[in-house]
Amino acid sequence: MVDSMGTALVRLLGISGSPREASTAFVIQEGLKYAAKMFNAQTEYFSLQNKDIKFCIHCDYCVREKKGCVHEDAMVEAYDKMEKADTFIIGTPVYNGSISGQLKMFLDRCRALVAKNPRALENKVGAGVAVGGDRLGGQGGCRRTGSPLGFISARAFTTEQILKFFLRHNRKGSGDS
Ligand SMILES: Cc1cc2nc3c(=O)[nH]c(=O)nc-3n(C[C@H](O)[C@H](O)[C@H](O)COP(=O)(O)O)c2cc1C
Repeated sequence: MVDSMGTALVRLLGISGSPREASTAFVIQEGLKYAAKMFNAQTEYFSLQNKDIKFCIHCDYCVREKKGCVHEDAMVEAYDKMEKADTFIIGTPVYNGSISGQLKMFLDRCRALVAKNPRALENKVGAGVAVGGDRLGGQGGCRRTGSPLGFISARAFTTEQILKFFLRHNRKGSGDS
């Protein structure tokens, strides 16, 4: 897609790896709004909240058949969005010093996306955001676990920082410390 000057618009996909509509979802959606306003980005949002996403079962159907994943669930929609996006912003709550289980399942299932189309993520950049309850709650661990999908310039937040941001913008926070 191009703008009125013929310049290609960046397609940015925001993914929230939280099972709640709270801090992580807020940060990702604010990031999308910022990118749309400042860079005229075409934004899409995909939340893992209440999504049916099955575990990768390492059946190797994806690498054998190159037709996608054996599971037909919410990842079908995610694969489509990821292929269309030029860049990503991926957020996770810190769970026990790492990314959420929901995001881990999501990332594991991306094996099928790349097996079907090895160029699906080629030249695509991403940024990661980790939101923890504590200032040193393990945000760095999220950076390592999330690395397969381009957590290139990870930013760590605490819930407290997000809450302050919520309050400044008269929004309701998640209630965490
Ligand atoms: C199972 C579980 C484990 C957690 N482990 C950590 C942790 O290791 N470090 C941390 O700083 N916060 C931890 N938290 C707190 C969350 O990271 C924090 O509340 C975060 O803001 C939740 O994100 P959300 O508001 O997007 O759901 C944990 C929360 C849960 C439910």
